[in-house]
Amino acid sequence: MSGSDFAYDFPHRNLLSIADLNPLDAEILFSRASHWLEAIRTANRKKDALKGLTQINLFFEPSTRTQASFEIAGKRLGADVVNFSAASSSAKKGESLADTVRNLAAMQADILVVRHPAAGAAAHVAALTNAAVVNAGDGMHEHPTQALLDAFALTRRLGGLGGRRVLIVGDILHSRVARSNVQLLNLLGAEVRLCAPPTLTPVGAAGWGAQVFTRLDEALEGCDAVMALRLQRERMAGGLIPSEREYFRFWGLTHKRLDAAAPDAVVMHPGPMNRGVEIDGALADDEARSLILDQVEVGAALRMAVLELLGENARKHNGGRA
Ligand code: NCD
Repeated sequence: MSGSDFAYDFPHRNLLSIADLNPLDAEILFSRASHWLEAIRTANRKKDALKGLTQINLFFEPSTRTQASFEIAGKRLGADVVNFSAASSSAKKGESLADTVRNLAAMQADILVVRHPAAGAAAHVAALTNAAVVNAGDGMHEHPTQALLDAFALTRRLGGLGGRRVLIVGDILHSRVARSNVQLLNLLGAEVRLCAPPTLTPVGAAGWGAQVFTRLDEALEGCDAVMALRLQRERMAGGLIPSEREYFRFWGLTHKRLDAAAPDAVVMHPGPMNRGVEIDGALADDEARSLILDQVEVGAALRMAVLELLGENARKHNGGRA
């Protein structure tokens, strides 16, 4: 089945926040992602669900995985994909985000994938254009496709998230990945735990729908999955941790530490990973325990699903271009 004969009416024009989704939306996205994963694992990778549509990846912050993943996903579906990164754009010459977006919209962009250091940037872009907008990370606020791909990878591994215990450990304070993940994991029925040094625990985290811990061994008890997060030094004003060595000793994931979790517990990481700081390299590379590269592989398929469903809607709303 190609995207063009897919009948489900996805009730969203943009993907800005996990808060906009319900469990059925997630189920549909996972089902389409499974379909695309199957397709890209065979030689038959090129599809035409987005043929004739223009996708612009607007990245105002560095990215390796996310940008490449969206580019690959769009190209596999036949979109014309343009990458626009802040370092080489007129944003450096003082142009506002709004003016940049108005210009890209005038070029008939159908899908805008936006990463920006300001919380709310993707929603701001969505208010300025008819193009479908995908939030690829807005400051410390949200990163919905990362949460969706994490939940998709976990669902495939655990056979479902209902009643599963998932721990997110690390720099929760600065993490949009944690904020999106807590919401989605809750929506899908998982029990969510957070663990961080007190200086990296957001005020009000206890109200997010997760149990909050400071001691890793306690937090790990009975967990089916553990997600490690990087220390986001670029968002830290001052020294919030004593030293990386000491951080690893208290909050770093290792095989030994994982003994406190459920017997087959898996480890995850959204990348970029700092070996020996938030996770031991040997654990990250342990194929029996680590879902890290799986997250990247299924991530491209999940983004194909997002682009496919939003692309269909953009076609309907933007006057049937192409
Ligand atoms: C994360 C991000 O940019 O929010 N990475 C990603 O998208 N895979 C996490 C991070 O930068 O640490």
